[in-house]
Amino acid sequence: MGRQRVLSGVQPTGNLHLGNYLGAIRNWVEGQQKYENFFCVVDLHAITVPHDPKTLAENTRAVAALYLACGIDLDHSTIFVQSHVPAHTELTWLLNCITPLNWLERMIQFKEKAIKQGENVGVGLLDYPVLMAADILLYDADKVPVGEDQKQHLELTRDIAMRLNYQFGREEAPVLKVPDPLIRPEGARIMSLTDGTRKMSKSDPSEQSRINLLDDPDTLRQKIKRCKTDPVRGLEFDNPERPECNNLLTLYAILSNQTKDAVAEECREMGWGQFKPLLTETTVEALRPIQEKYNEVMGDPGYLDSVLRDGQARASEIANATLARVRAALGFLPPLS
Ligand code: TYM
Repeated sequence: MGRQRVLSGVQPTGNLHLGNYLGAIRNWVEGQQKYENFFCVVDLHAITVPHDPKTLAENTRAVAALYLACGIDLDHSTIFVQSHVPAHTELTWLLNCITPLNWLERMIQFKEKAIKQGENVGVGLLDYPVLMAADILLYDADKVPVGEDQKQHLELTRDIAMRLNYQFGREEAPVLKVPDPLIRPEGARIMSLTDGTRKMSKSDPSEQSRINLLDDPDTLRQKIKRCKTDPVRGLEFDNPERPECNNLLTLYAILSNQTKDAVAEECREMGWGQFKPLLTETTVEALRPIQEKYNEVMGDPGYLDSVLRDGQARASEIANATLARVRAALGFLPPLS
């Protein structure tokens, strides 16, 4: 038996933040030797909310470069751009036709984002999770490493795959593989710097709410200095009255590669005045190698092009085979040559 396959992706909307890194990309890197991996930049998802055509292509390259900078290794992993593999959009259409509308209307992220858009909410936003299901199912992925906020979309992906298998497959020969989410508890839900009860998010209008992977040391210092805390002395995890404290300790534990117990012990007597500089230096040091590698990759556009060209070829081969299988199961006349 070959290695199990992993697929995941990040949207190229603005700068990636610590939530994206600690909830997703860091886990891709840690597991990559164990699996056969496909990591895509999901640019088609990025246009489900109003977007700027002037920055989409550049942001797509930047996210691919960040994958490499964070440690994605091409010996184990394939990096590609979602829109470079048209099978993603075609499978989305086929899946749309078997997905009940009320499954999509129930999605929490849709409801949250739709409220922000008011009357102008587009069909693409509603259909977002079906495109995500297509991303995953095309690669027969066994595991999908994501942050906590994607759990409901993963459940939907499983439901869509099982429904298609039930309607068009045979028990002994399912058409689609039903994937499992891979959500590591630590870092699965990184919270905002301005409100410890809300997740860190690219769509928060306040830059102060998040730490971006490409923030320079001065910006990091400023953001951590100003981040929300509480008046209590002595720091602790898991006190529901102190969400900011839990979040900042979690960041410190993961970025300094220490266990929760070790950090709880180290910080038990500390005040914020002592802890904040510690967190700042830890963050600056953790992001430094990522930023250096990112600048190196962005400085060599020919190299990045070749990575994405190879990725497109490898991804297309697998995606097209799955798409052909689904088309056959649904009874389409095969294309004539
Ligand atoms: P996106 O770009 O919003 O998020 C990318 C990844 O980052 C995780 N994440 C977080 N994790 C912890 N704490 C946070 N505050 C935080 N914010 C974001 C997300 O869970 C995600 O893993 N719909 C996906 C993109 C996608 C995808 C896919 C993922 C499209 N197709 C197929 C996996 C497989 C998304 O939310 O992207």
